[in-house]
Amino acid sequence: MQRVAVLGATGSIGGSALDVIARHPETIRASVLAAGGNVAALVALCATHRPEHAVVGDTSGLATLREGLRHAGLSTQAHAGPEALTALVASEACDTVVAAIVGAAGLDSTLAAARAGKRLLLANKESLVLAGELLIAAAREAGSTIVPIDSEHNAIFQCLHGRPAGTEVQRITLTASGGPFRGRSRAQLAGVTPQQAVAHPKWSMGPKISVDSATLMNKGLELIEARHLFGLPDERLDVLVHPQSLVHSLVEFVDGSTLAQLGLPDMRTSLAVGLGWPARIASGVGALDLAAHGRLEFEPPDLATFPCLRLAREALRTGGTAPAILNAVNEVAVSAFLQGRIGFLSIAALVEDALAAIAAEPASSLAALGDADARARRHAEHAIATGTLR
Ligand SMILES: NC(=O)c1ccc[n+]([C@@H]2O[C@H](COP(=O)([O-])OP(=O)(O)OC[C@H]3O[C@@H](n4cnc5c(N)ncnc54)[C@H](OP(=O)(O)O)[C@@H]3O)[C@@H](O)[C@H]2O)c1
Repeated sequence: MQRVAVLGATGSIGGSALDVIARHPETIRASVLAAGGNVAALVALCATHRPEHAVVGDTSGLATLREGLRHAGLSTQAHAGPEALTALVASEACDTVVAAIVGAAGLDSTLAAARAGKRLLLANKESLVLAGELLIAAAREAGSTIVPIDSEHNAIFQCLHGRPAGTEVQRITLTASGGPFRGRSRAQLAGVTPQQAVAHPKWSMGPKISVDSATLMNKGLELIEARHLFGLPDERLDVLVHPQSLVHSLVEFVDGSTLAQLGLPDMRTSLAVGLGWPARIASGVGALDLAAHGRLEFEPPDLATFPCLRLAREALRTGGTAPAILNAVNEVAVSAFLQGRIGFLSIAALVEDALAAIAAEPASSLAALGDADARARRHAEHAIATGTLR
């Protein structure tokens, strides 16, 4: 029996992971469920999936969680706070960890899973952007298998059969849907609302990644993610807009072959790959009917209208703490945009400003990365509060 810790259980990826797990009651079970502050939703999931442990990130929620579990007649043990979560992730309570907390808040638990040698189903791309070298090194040292859950990287993982890219791979091309604002001009983007930005045409996702998809920062974070996961230099990583979101990425080999992975845009496929690997298990996702879809289109990304992709590539080239700065400012800016405090175009402006203002340093330790992250957040908060870049 594979015992799985689902971190970010109340979110979009968490829900998809639990859906796949519930399809395989004989072989897979959710043993740990973790969320941030949404205790009611966490208790409801515990009632359905009956894990041994439930963890709420916000320590003030512990009493409510304990009471909710007791009231529901469950024997699930209640825990709270980041330290309790990292301890459980590293313990015998699980063999596999679905890392699906949103943002840099997911780093410690992701790292704990890698260090403990768990199978790591990695959706939390921000932890790779922030501390990719340290995370990959920790996983290698402890023998942790990382299966990327982002559909693009999962597609590449499948095309490579889980092997390293080595010398056989010439180029990796990440596909991008283009988001809800594909084809618009900068002037048309000035007044877009959070509701418009989160209405993704193809994928149903949490609010932060939906805004990242609308700015194309998501694809920028994915470039950095791909660099760490597959080891190819940045000039051999490409992005191609593919509005139908059926081809999830492409790998070009030195012999001229290009392999791609196709499927309906549903994250349960990636999660089933991660849970079953190297076997294939049912995910609940239907088959792809190409004749019904008819057309597969591709076009280059519009970097002038969507500068976040360019900024992410620049941060990747700069290296050191630059990706951590990019990620931190983006998190602050997206949150401010969702709260109506800044406009859509200010997201990229804030990131560009911080990357110019804060010098990148070597990413030699978690402490150095944490400092860069905190400094970048302060810089962005100040720019927003003073209205400099609103
Ligand atoms: N959604 C997708 O299709 C998709 C695709 C590829 C990659 N990803 C990546 O997967 C991650 C999750 O995305 P999502 O769309 O599933 O996000 P989401 O729907 O917003 O869910 C976020 C989850 O993280 C939890 N959380 C937030 N802060 C926390 C904290 N401090 N401690 C513990 N848990 C915390 C939330 O708990 P509460 O509900 O209690 O707040 C929730 O369960 C992101 O890194 C995203 O980039 C998502």
